[in-house]
Amino acid sequence: MDLPRIIGHRGAAATAPENTLASFRTAAAMGVTMVEFDVMLTRDDRAVVFHDETLERTTDGHGRLREAPLATLIGLDAGGWFEPNFAGEPVPTLEAVLGLLQGLGIGANIEIKPTHPSDTRTAEIAIAVAAGLWPVDRPPPLLSSFSRRCLQVAEELAPTWPRGLIVDRLPSDWHEAAQALGLSTIHCLHRHLSPVVVAEIKRTGLGVVAWTVNELERAETLWGWGVEAVISDVPDVLQEG
Ligand code: G3P
Ligand code: MG
Repeated sequence: MDLPRIIGHRGAAATAPENTLASFRTAAAMGVTMVEFDVMLTRDDRAVVFHDETLERTTDGHGRLREAPLATLIGLDAGGWFEPNFAGEPVPTLEAVLGLLQGLGIGANIEIKPTHPSDTRTAEIAIAVAAGLWPVDRPPPLLSSFSRRCLQVAEELAPTWPRGLIVDRLPSDWHEAAQALGLSTIHCLHRHLSPVVVAEIKRTGLGVVAWTVNELERAETLWGWGVEAVISDVPDVLQEG
């Protein structure tokens, strides 16, 4: 698959409130061609773009996201915590984000967060939403997850869409997992990558994605080792390289 060198993390998380429409617009205005974002489920099983299990850090709401219905979430302010200029930015639905990205003409790396109590439900719902919306003539979203079970569901529901396993450190059974899940990419915490690890992954034909890389010098080192894409809060800084 064709990966850009830079993927905007939660949009452009250092410049705009993460995982909001404003963040994706900001990333696109910086010239970013693909953004990563996190998908979670509300109490009424709606897919929303959100990172934490709880609402406090990035909204003016309280409690667990999974216990809040969509009607409550869309009334929250997901921008004011970041900067007063962004006050009133809502928690976006997956539909709204995918619609915006199509309008902006940029690609998606959809990170599927497992859900309690049924850990694969986010994958089922997010993929149904995305498959219903994403134009067939555009490169499909890259689906990624820390959860192998979510990636297994992704393979069943969207077999032609690329899948990436997210890990902190490369696990010893990564190659078996890649084969079993039909992976295209491995997404490693950048601190745990080395030239040897990158070469080992690439030898099998998989792409290497590194997260979260916020210094240009480090990104250049990783690209030099053969890392295809770095996920960054500061895509504008990395574009100077
Ligand atoms: O997709 C890479 C990275 O976003 C995974 O960690 O916690 O930022 O979603 P997190
Ligand atoms: Mg993420």
